[in-house]
Amino acid sequence: MSKDEATIAVYDARADDYANAFADAADDPALKRFMGRLPRGAAVLDLGCGPGTQAAAMQARGFQVTATDASAAMVVKARAHQGVIVRQAGFGDLGDHNVYDGVWANFSLLHVARADLAGHLSRIAAALKLGGVFHIGMKTGEGEHGDQLGRFYTYYSIAELRDHLGAAGFEVIEEVEGEGAGLAGTVDPWVEMLARR
Ligand SMILES: C[S@@+](CC[C@H](N)C(=O)[O-])C[C@H]1O[C@@H](n2cnc3c(N)ncnc32)[C@H](O)[C@@H]1O
Repeated sequence: MSKDEATIAVYDARADDYANAFADAADDPALKRFMGRLPRGAAVLDLGCGPGTQAAAMQARGFQVTATDASAAMVVKARAHQGVIVRQAGFGDLGDHNVYDGVWANFSLLHVARADLAGHLSRIAAALKLGGVFHIGMKTGEGEHGDQLGRFYTYYSIAELRDHLGAAGFEVIEEVEGEGAGLAGTVDPWVEMLARR
């Protein structure tokens, strides 16, 4: 399992706080846009699913959802949602080929080192069927550093992320920028990209 232990320890300790802070995550407009691009009964992977609120919303829409997260406490919370298959796994454990119609990686891949992102995007592309849809949410900015809670973050420019997606074989089909407060309480800029394999 490839993961930053200190980051996962924060999510293990704060899983309840996280779930409460983002209890309305099922109403995320990006989730609605993503689901709108999927075929009926689509097979979806929620990569870095956290407490599983969005995985459960996708399951409730009739999709077949597999959800993974490296945090044991998050996995316990995600398993409380009926019907979702939940596995404790790091991003580097993804080894599926041509299985999913959609991969949803919402503000999770921002916890990997910049040098490792290309490998994770290649694995995601391989796991998707041709024509499959990929959502990625990331914080924008520069550098790699820890936040006030001790979580490791990598920040990207939008151009850099576009290049990464292109190099992994994706065509970007939607981009939305915004800003918002996360678990640490700071207001940070972000980008959400929807891409097709
Ligand atoms: C900011 S939360 C996002 C959770 C969820 N996707 C959401 O939008 O609410 C980041 C999640 O990524 C998970 N995570 C961090 N590094 C990971 C890794 N290397 N492999 C798998 N999951 C990881 C954390 O445990 C946490 O649940």
